[in-house]
Amino acid sequence: MGSTGQSSHDSLDQAGISSLAAIRRDYRAIFERDPAARSRMEVLLTYSGFHAIALHRLAHWVHRLGFRLVARLISAFSRFVTGIEIHPGARIGPGFFIDHGMGVVIGETTEIGTDVTLFQGVSLAGNGKDRGQKRHPTLGDHVLVGAGAKILGNIRIGEGVRVGANAVVLQSIPSHCTVVGIPGRVVRTKERGYPEAYLNHQDMPDPFLERIESLEKIISDLREELDSARNSRMKP
Ligand SMILES: CC(C)(COP(=O)(O)OP(=O)(O)OC[C@H]1O[C@@H](n2cnc3c(N)ncnc32)[C@H](O)[C@@H]1OP(=O)(O)O)[C@@H](O)C(=O)NCCC(=O)NCCS
Repeated sequence: MGSTGQSSHDSLDQAGISSLAAIRRDYRAIFERDPAARSRMEVLLTYSGFHAIALHRLAHWVHRLGFRLVARLISAFSRFVTGIEIHPGARIGPGFFIDHGMGVVIGETTEIGTDVTLFQGVSLAGNGKDRGQKRHPTLGDHVLVGAGAKILGNIRIGEGVRVGANAVVLQSIPSHCTVVGIPGRVVRTKERGYPEAYLNHQDMPDPFLERIESLEKIISDLREELDSARNSRMKP
């Protein structure tokens, strides 16, 4: 009994140390993914997404120690100051970044891999029907979830998936896909994953521009065909 108690203490101490290491990784992730992050002081003082994950790591550690009410109080305080609600029971890997943040909700049995990015207004929540132990989604490594997207229920979002802004995802999604719309549907798959969730909005894909460019190409091909048909008719 004594030795089990000792080893569970050791593992909780270990959890405390790994939480600190995870916070350091979360902090670094902001500079890797957000081109707007310029100074260390600016990030420490003004990034509510960073405040929320740092407080969550503390709340999760206290939750694991068994002080559930204290953990909920830390989480409620975090929600009050950041507008981001993360249940202390949620398990979140290192390199987690919430950009802008306001309105994010992460449920109790959510599991999140490493280097995941969320934007404002994202819900990782129950669908109101799952009644088992696990009611919330599991996100693989390097997932990006766009602003306002909802991922509901005990489903799995594979590694490297990109969830479009305002999508409502109700079913598991295989790795390295893009899912958009309501209900979420896969619109793109990739053999290899996306390298990193990088938030340089100037470089975000522009589907309208791409569509215009492809129409311009079709028009110019048709013109060429028309010209050559005219030329061959005019030849004696
Ligand atoms: C989904 C996303 C990540 C792009 O991923 P991608 O793999 O490069 O996908 P594409 O841009 O090639 O889009 C694939 C298709 O989905 C459509 N699409 C993209 N995002 C969509 C969205 N949020 N809702 C509905 N359709 C969307 C595109 O128009 C395209 O349709 P088409 O094939 O008919 O032309 C991006 O569009 C997105 O939503 N990013 C979130 C950004 C965000 O939340 N920013 C907040 C900043 S504060």
